[in-house]
Amino acid sequence: MIRMQDLRKDFTVRVKAGRLFREKRTVPAVDGVSLTIEPGEMVGYIGPNGAGKSTTLKMLTGVLAPTAGEVSVFGLTPVPQRTRLALRIGVVFGQRSQLWWDLPLRESFRLLRHIYRVPAAEHEARLRRCRSLLDLDEFLDTPVRQLSLGQRMRGELTAALLHGPGVLFLDEPTIGLDVVSKQAVRSFLAELGASGDVTLVLTTHDLADIERLCHRLVVIDHGRVVHDGTIEALHARYGSRRSLVVDLDRPLAPGFTLPGATLLGAEADGHRVTFALDTASAGEAVAGLVATAAVRDLSVVEPDIEDVVARLYASA
Ligand SMILES: Nc1ncnc2c1ncn2[C@@H]1O[C@H](COP(=O)(O)OP(=O)(O)OP(=O)(O)O)[C@@H](O)[C@H]1O
Ligand SMILES: [Mg+2]
Repeated sequence: MIRMQDLRKDFTVRVKAGRLFREKRTVPAVDGVSLTIEPGEMVGYIGPNGAGKSTTLKMLTGVLAPTAGEVSVFGLTPVPQRTRLALRIGVVFGQRSQLWWDLPLRESFRLLRHIYRVPAAEHEARLRRCRSLLDLDEFLDTPVRQLSLGQRMRGELTAALLHGPGVLFLDEPTIGLDVVSKQAVRSFLAELGASGDVTLVLTTHDLADIERLCHRLVVIDHGRVVHDGTIEALHARYGSRRSLVVDLDRPLAPGFTLPGATLLGAEADGHRVTFALDTASAGEAVAGLVATAAVRDLSVVEPDIEDVVARLYASA
């Protein structure tokens, strides 16, 4: 569905050189990315600021021509076949709008129907679905410029989907949204992805988006792929483990050990201890503990994705 082979994009920028002169310098924004994305995948494309995420999406959607390498979406080459491609993809750039600023949302949707020549019944069905899943009715007749960011984003998502695209590219779809709107957008995208009809590629700095939405995580830094795999693979690579936090009536006996787990530390005068689960399952560790220690309460803590990704960015 999507193929990138040694894809590159260089930007030429002028930088100050001394007091009078400016010299040209080349910035390799995307520096040899090769990826294949299959139909129905939900891929999170993440990386620190300036890593090359937006530039990649722009090359995939035909906004920017690559400097070198190959890119194809549905077998089409995005820049020369941009019009044909546009009929088959949906695009949401969180920081830019594809809606008509002075028109009510409803009119923007009507225009899109004509631009994409969508049969009325299909348009109606898709719009109805978005209206109910994204709660659009309240502001369907409001001019776009008067919408709040969260309302506009729900409008943008609808606009990107009304022609029934097979791939949806999203560049920071939850940027600037409050927690409730973020969740609304996430559940909508999760449902869309689960249907299997739409391939999702999204960039984000909000790792909760990734945890909720993406089975595959591609991390880039300085224009190069530094990780491609599941979130679990990332945790395995960085040795992040689940941990067991235990509240005790009495501190553990000196020299206490728990097979397959490591004692990470104790707080509250030894009344709360934390173990990392190395090879023991949570069940085995709990069984080992209750047999010998005065356990009052316990909880299993999953490894934190923020933590792992921070380590990955730092090491890259
Ligand atoms: N039009 C442009 N002209 C010159 N340099 C550019 C241009 N667009 C992007 N760049 C540079 O290319 C690099 C990658 O930018 P890009 O916007 O793709 O990053 P990003 O991963 O989307 O970052 P962010 O998380 O901040 O959105 C950066 O160094 C940026 O300064
Ligand atoms: Mg960006």
